[in-house]
Formats: sequence, structure tokens, C-alpha cells
Amino acid sequence: MHHFTHRDGDLFAEDVPLARIAAEVGTPVYVYSDATLRRHARVFQDAFAGARALAAFSVKANSNLAVLRTLFEEGMGADVVSGGELMRALKAGLSGNKIVFSGVGKTAEELKLALEAGVHMFNVESENELLVLDAVARDLGVRAPLAFRVNPDVAAGGHEKISTGKAEDKFGVAWSRARRAYEKAARLSGIEIRGVDVHIGSQITELAPFEAAFQRVAGLVRDLRADGHTIDRIDLGGGLGISYDGNTEGEGAPPGPADYAALIRRIADPLGVELIFEPGRMIAGNAGLLLTRAIYVKEGEARRFLILDAAMNDLIRPALYEASHGIEPVQAPQQGAGYGRYDVVGPVCETGDRFASERELPAMAEGDLFAIMSAGAYGAVQASQYNSRPLVPEVLVRGEAFHVIRRRPSFDEMVALEGLPPWLEART
Ligand code: LLP
Repeated sequence: MHHFTHRDGDLFAEDVPLARIAAEVGTPVYVYSDATLRRHARVFQDAFAGARALAAFSVKANSNLAVLRTLFEEGMGADVVSGGELMRALKAGLSGNKIVFSGVGKTAEELKLALEAGVHMFNVESENELLVLDAVARDLGVRAPLAFRVNPDVAAGGHEKISTGKAEDKFGVAWSRARRAYEKAARLSGIEIRGVDVHIGSQITELAPFEAAFQRVAGLVRDLRADGHTIDRIDLGGGLGISYDGNTEGEGAPPGPADYAALIRRIADPLGVELIFEPGRMIAGNAGLLLTRAIYVKEGEARRFLILDAAMNDLIRPALYEASHGIEPVQAPQQGAGYGRYDVVGPVCETGDRFASERELPAMAEGDLFAIMSAGAYGAVQASQYNSRPLVPEVLVRGEAFHVIRRRPSFDEMVALEGLPPWLEART
């Protein structure tokens, strides 16, 4: 569900025609809907109404300060994986006690920063990290609230590059070592054991892998309690998939938050724990699109190419994960223009710079605007300046208003961090 709709053929973000944003801000540009972000935040939290639950938005999915602030206003917390994300969450106005700190390689500096911020929980991923956290906490004279992220060895079915819960993945503490890790933690004075954490992957479109992982976690909680540990929280990570093709009801459609919540309540309610979640894509994915303009239409030998001003450096998901995003014309095509098949590509000098192959689209002309849909999560955050293309800007729409929440950098800003060594300067 989102608030990007066609009115008389023109695509709108809430009450703003996308063509107006393109004219005023230029393209390519990410456009987010305030109403969609808020709706998703509410739907997710409402699904757990009555439970002790913290829905911590996974900041890696979209870390723009205005997006974060919007979600925090709706009561969400934050899941962060670096000092930078932690500082973003704090800067966007969140208090430390609504932040969980995940991540496979946290440094002592980052752990210190998070302890000073008073984060709700550390999701520790190894016994060595445990020792560093203990030392940093003792230095500061505090105790660090801890969960171990455990690896349940469950195949999640999504793309292999975003699966995280199998035995050969780098994530989490090995299942067979988990109880020993808690034993060790219990002996450390800088550590306060609080919970168990699991995250098995992303863009998961069925409930079975979640059920398998969460059942294992529930079993572990019982074992740990039998070992004498206090476990009063479980963090079930993120991973709930979204529809990238508009199919929200039919076969293959991802489960809705209500079904996901019912599964969790069935497994977790008997444990009497606080529930923590780290949804990212489910909140932000369909709340954003990438607005772009066709530069050229080119007749190749075997294909017809639609060459956009957006490229893989702006949205890398198709190149990296073979992801397929909906592509919609922003303005109604000419009457009777018919349809054509296009390879939709960007201008970057790589064959992989392709948004879609042989996609059926209304006949298109140079200068036409398009929206690449479902780009609100893992879009702008994964953008780069490859080919010396400026970082793509971001716009947030609310009703009839819109605001540039990150502007396009100038050329001078793009090179501002670079400097010449003295031997080169000496020659100029
Ligand atoms: N928690 C942890 C520990 C994670 O590693 C992730 C995502 C999440 C929560 C949020 O997962 P979500 O609810 O968004 O599925 N760039 C890839 C996705 C990478 C996901 C990484 N971890 C993509 O564009 O598909």
C-alpha cells in the first residue's frame, strides 16, 4: 500500500504531481511519501498492540534524517549497525533507550559511543566482541545490556546475497556455541544479560523460515533460563518481504504484518518477554520511488534501449541482486501510442547497469519521465558517485507540500574531500 497514484494519467506523490518535482528539483531524484511511511509504521506497531514491543526501524534501509524523524514521531525506535547510524538516530531526535545496536564488527569506539548514549541493547555477534564490550563498559563504570545474535541455521529463501541465517553465513554466534557464550557473559561484570537476537535475512516472502527460526529461539530461551540466566527480551530482527510487482494478495505475495504478528505471538507470548523487531524494507520500501527522465531511445541490433538519467550508482538493487522494480510512466502516453519492449538502462559504463530487460512499456519518447517503484529502502543509502555522477538527491512529500531533504551536491562539493599531495601541487 502506498500513496503514489495516477490521476488522469499523471503520477502523483500524495497530492504533488511528480512532473512538478522533476521540473523544480531535476532528475534523478528519490521521492518519499510521508503518509506511506507513517502508515507502515502504524500498521506494523498496531499488529503488536497489547504486547510489550519495540519496533526499531532498521536505519540501513533509509537513513535520511527527515525519514528517520518521521518514523520516530510515529513511535518507532532504531536498529543501527555503525557509529554513523547511531549518530543519525540520535541527531534525528531519538533517545538512546529506543536504539538497538546490531552489526557483525562493532569497534571499541563504536561500543563506547553506544554505551554513552545508553542504548537499549547490544546484539553481540561473537565471544570476542563480548570481551571488548565488557572491557569498554567496565571502563565507563556501566553494565552493557546484552543479547547474543544467534545463527539458527535456517535457509530463508531470499536472494543468496541477503540471506544471513545459515551456518555458513558470517552472522551471529554459532548455534552449537550459544549456551557457552551466555555462560561466559554471565561471569563478566560489565555485562548484563537481557535477551536473544536473531535475524535470518531480507525480502523473505513466506512465514515458514521465520517460524523455524523463532521456534529455535524460543527453545534456546527455555534452555538459557534453565541454565539460570534472566532472559526478558527477544529481538526477532527484520526481513519481512514486500511486493515489488504490485501483487499484495495473490499467490507469492508476501505475508502481511498481521499474519507475521500472529505467528510471533503464538511462539513468544508463552515466554513473557519484551519483543523487539528491526523492520526496514517493510516500512520504507514502498514509501519511495526513483524519479528519472529518459535521455535517449536507441534501436540496438537485438534490443530497443531506453536510456535513463538514473543509473546503477543511484539504485544498485537490479545490478546487485537481479531485483525487478516496477517502472511506470509519470505522464500519460500519447493516445494510441501502443506498447514496446525496452531494455531500461542507465548511462553508466557497465553492462549490469540495467533496470529491466525487455520490459513492456507504453511507447516512450526522449524526455519522458519514469518512476522506478519500491525504491524507498536500500535505494539512496546504497547510492555512490560512480562515474563521477553526483549523489542522487531526496525529496519528502506531505500532502500538497514537498521538501528537498537532501540536495544534489555541486561538482565542487563532490571533489571537496580530495587533495593533491605536495609533489603534485609543486608542479601546478
Ligand atoms: N536487522 C538486521 C540485523 C539486518 O541485517 C537487516 C538487514 C535488517 C534488520 C532489516 O531487514 P529488512 O526488514 O529490511 O529486510 N541491500 C539489500 C538488503 C540487505 C539487508 C541487510 N540487513 C537489498 O536491497 O535487498
